[in-house]
Formats: sequence, C-alpha cells, structure tokens
Amino acid sequence: SKRRILVCGGGNGAHCLSTLAASQKNSEVQVLTLFQDEAERWAKQLEDSDVKLTITDLDGSQQDLFAKPILITKDSEKAMSGVQIIFLVVPAFAHAGYFMAIEPHLQPNTLIVGLPGQAGFEFQCRSILGDKASTCTIASLESLPWACRILEFGRHAQILGAKESLGISYIKGKSCDLPFPVVESIQDILGKKPKIEEIQNYIAINLMAKSMVHPPILYGKWGDWDGKPLQKEPLFYQGIDERQADLLSKVSDELIATGKKLEQLKEGIYMSQVIHIFDWYKTYYKDQITDKSCLMMAMRTNSAYDGLVHPMIKTEEGYIPNFNYRYTTEDIPYGLVVMKGIAEIAGVDTPVMDEIIAWAQQKLDKEYIVGSKLSGKDVGTTRAPQSYGLKTVDELFDT
Ligand code: NAI
Repeated sequence: SKRRILVCGGGNGAHCLSTLAASQKNSEVQVLTLFQDEAERWAKQLEDSDVKLTITDLDGSQQDLFAKPILITKDSEKAMSGVQIIFLVVPAFAHAGYFMAIEPHLQPNTLIVGLPGQAGFEFQCRSILGDKASTCTIASLESLPWACRILEFGRHAQILGAKESLGISYIKGKSCDLPFPVVESIQDILGKKPKIEEIQNYIAINLMAKSMVHPPILYGKWGDWDGKPLQKEPLFYQGIDERQADLLSKVSDELIATGKKLEQLKEGIYMSQVIHIFDWYKTYYKDQITDKSCLMMAMRTNSAYDGLVHPMIKTEEGYIPNFNYRYTTEDIPYGLVVMKGIAEIAGVDTPVMDEIIAWAQQKLDKEYIVGSKLSGKDVGTTRAPQSYGLKTVDELFDT
C-alpha cells in the first residue's frame, strides 16, 4: 500500500515538496493549508491539471515532473485521515497553528517533520501535543533542502540546486513504535540529494539553526546607521564586511561553547556536529563558493547568494532598512532568543548574542533580554525553552 504524506503549508517549499512526493509511485500526498483561502484557490487550479515542478541543477540541467496531491484542504480532520508522515513546510511563526490543528486527529506512531524545524520547533510541538507527544516521533531538518520558489501559484514551482547534505535530528516518543525508519523514509521522499545526515540530539540541531546567520549581518550593517536613506539596496551576504563577518563568527563560537558545555554536563550527549558557521559554509556550499580563505570571503563569493539584498523599504528619498522582515521577526523569537535560552540553561555567557538581541528587540518593540538575562516581559512569546517551563539541563534532555 502507498504511504500517505501530509504537507502543511501552501508556499514555495510546500508546492515543491508536495509535488516531488506525489510524483513517487509509493507515496500519496494530502495538503493542509490554514492560510486564508489558499486551499480553495490551489484546489481550483488543479481541477484539470497537475502541478509542474521544474528541478534545475547547479550545472544548469533541468527536469520537469508533473504530479498533484490527492487532496488540498483547510479541514484538518480530512487532511489527517490515514497519514503516516506530516511535514510542516511553513515559516516558524505559522507552526503553532498547525500543531493545534493536527493534535485532535493525531494517531499514535505518526512522524512529524519540521522542514525546516527552526529553533524551538520541538519545544513548541511537544508542548502543544501534550500527552500525545510521547506517542509519535518529532523530527527536524536544519534547513529547507533546496532554494525554491513558486513560478505560478498552484501550478508551477521550481527547485534550484539541492544542498549537498542536510542534518536531521528526531525525538522518538517513549511509547512510539514507528513502523518505518525515520532517516531512510525522508531520504526516499527527498530523493538522492541532499544526503540526510543524522544529528545525535535535537539540542544540537537547535544550535545549528540557520536563523543565526541573519541577525549578526543586520546588526553589523545597521547598528550604527545614521538614518540617511541609501540610493541602492545593499547586497546582503555578498556585501558583508569584516565587522559583520566577525559578529557572525563570534555568535557561532558562542553556540559551539554552549554545545561543549552541555556535553560536559550531560552524559551520553555529543555535540561535535555543532560546527562553526565557516566550516558549515565550506561543506554545504562546496561548489558555489570560489574563495574559501575566510568566512567573509566565503560569503562574498557564494554564488547561491547572487543578487540577494538587504530587506529595504523604498521611500521618496531612497531606501531605508526594513526591520520588520523575517530576518528579525522570525530569526529573533524563533532563532537567536531560543539559542540564548539554551545557553542560559547551560550556564554559558553569550555577550555577542546578547548585544544583537538587545538591538533587535528595540526594532521589534519587544523585550526579551534584560542585560544578559532572558527575563524580559516578552520571553513567553518566543520559542525559548523557558517559555515551556524547561529550566535545567536534565529537563532539556528528558524526552
Ligand atoms: P513561504 O514564504 O513561501 O511561505 C508562505 C506560506 O506560509 C503561505 O503560502 C502560507 O501557506 C503560510 N503562511 C503565510 N502567512 C501565514 C499566516 N499568517 N498564517 C498561517 N500561514 C501563513 O515559505 P517557504 O519559502 O516555503 O519557506 C518555508 C521555510 O523554509 C521558511 O522558514 C523559510 O525561511 C525556509 N527556507 C526557504 C527557502 C526557499 O528557498 N524558499 C530556502 C531556505 C529556507
């Protein structure tokens, strides 16, 4: 019999994953999208046609797949019928809505996958699922497997160059008995690339979440901004200078230190997979980076970043930075603040992360950090472990 997959979401990644999986003989796909009238609009597009998925490889070669889900709905009960694997393929702020929608219909021995999970995915999922969390397996991938985009809503999407490899971690609930293997099944659905690599524990993957990249770059660029509009939109990654690269590198050092400390504090926990962001770039963008001499040059010469600019708002006088873009709205409460929360539990000082969070929270009109403590009034709206009552190292690893 076919394995039934639920894809939650209706954006770029959801279009690509659902079509990719639906094109496989041994899978059938249902889609749940809770966003506005997205389900209705998408279903209508597919009454008389398949979705076309164009897969463009790094060498420029191209392949088209045609397939479609057997169901696209806003109704979580229908969407959940008979599913064995659930993928959440939406920005992190939308995860809670999906956890709440699937919980009443969740059957034991289901695999729930964050693609990507983003920091705090497991804390939030376990909290919302309550007792049911122990009956299923919760997995998280460190990023989306590809750069991808919708070309025509509901009808045509494109995958641009898959990454070489991608980390995954999972928490198998105490009474969960999955009838299929986690890593192999996900690999089977995604195809040959990227190669899915198992990360030993979920805290490691939280410390590796790629939401750590954007805030240091933003702070380095705009922390001392004089308020004058710019005539051009500055390059985001390829425009980074020494100071920005240094901030990014130091945040990465603080995350590695957090991992090492947890390793010392908890027997059986290994954090060697929490690697420096420079080493990560050299591995994951192996073929796209031309100058690997230092982090700054690696980012400046990464062709995957061609043309990507800072989020800006166009005004009559020129461009001003948009501090309400997902690089802050998501990557602070569902990124850096979560990592800070883990570091605080580990007892590791993180002066650079603190400085960046303190700056970003002003832009977001929130209070997460006070001095070096995560004790601001808005911590409860983030996915920091503290929001879910986790305060000790033992509690972090009691899964
Ligand atoms: P997207 O921007 O296409 O997601 C939009 C979708 O999210 C909407 O279609 C809707 O289904 C849902 N959504 C939006 N606003 C909502 C709301 N207020 N309430 C409920 N649902 C809402 O996202 P995309 O591009 O598919 O990315 C998914 C995740 O993967 C994100 O976390 C993104 O940062 C990450 N990612 C994306 C990459 C890409 O190339 N697209 C590359 C690497 C990571």
